[in-house]
Amino acid sequence: MTFQWTENLAVGVELMDEQHKELFARVNGFVEAITQGKESVVVEELMNYLESYVDTHFNLEETYMKQYDYDEEETEIHLKQHKTFRSNLERLKSEYQKKGATKDLNQKIQEHLCNWLITHVSKIDKKLGDYL
Ligand SMILES: [Fe+2]
Repeated sequence: MTFQWTENLAVGVELMDEQHKELFARVNGFVEAITQGKESVVVEELMNYLESYVDTHFNLEETYMKQYDYDEEETEIHLKQHKTFRSNLERLKSEYQKKGATKDLNQKIQEHLCNWLITHVSKIDKKLGDYL
């Protein structure tokens, strides 16, 4: 399983793209370590990283939406998605604290965090980037 930022994920706003690249590079490193069976070492670190990084990154996007008067309905959809990600992350973190780095948890991380990010960036963030 690989998790890579590619040109077609570019949203055209420099700072957003820079942060997405950083996010994808770090997450890819964690995902690779998980694939190599090192999940007991990296899963918690991955989730801690995501927690702090999405705060910075989601806040940037949310500031742009306000500052540039982004469409109300689109803002609502976007904010809702950020909220979903945060709650997925919180849920998976507490699952980790209870059960450790299980195979099932790895699968959920892939689905609810990694795949989520790709879909979100390619659709929702791109829409915002087009507007900005
Ligand atoms: Fe976003």
